[in-house]
Amino acid sequence: ATMLLMNGPNLGILGRREPEIYGTATLDDIEKLVIDEVSDMGWEVRSVQSDSESELIGAIQDNYDTVGAIVNPGALMIAGWSLRDALASYPRPWIEVHLSNVWARESFRHESVLAPLAAGVVVGLGPLGYRLGARALLCCVTGDDR
Ligand code: DQA
Repeated sequence: ATMLLMNGPNLGILGRREPEIYGTATLDDIEKLVIDEVSDMGWEVRSVQSDSESELIGAIQDNYDTVGAIVNPGALMIAGWSLRDALASYPRPWIEVHLSNVWARESFRHESVLAPLAAGVVVGLGPLGYRLGARALLCCVTGDDR
């Protein structure tokens, strides 16, 4: 089985992007965390990062065969309506992750147009949030929700 790890705009430069907010881990480091978390189940990780909403939409449409997804949409959380529609037709559970605690920040980050469609949301826990999200996805998909 393969899961999708999707990161949106400005997340390809993690490590050197406002490290006081997003920390020093790179996207590579985060991919490794996720791979490590799901490898015990024999899952593989297909990782996509793009700064373009259209590419993210294409990646969702091309990955209906994955078992589920972790999505950090970056600022597309705020008004990414086309991404929302793409996720609405993604046939598998997915989990929204944000590194920073968006509710401790500017008010324009307090709502996500995507989150109502997510199986769950992990916010403010840094790279650990991806690990927890991946673990939660495993539980969603295997039906073990303890
Ligand atoms: C983010 C939070 C968003 O508000 C912001 O636009 C990002 C990163 C996070 O992971 O904390 O790009 O998704």
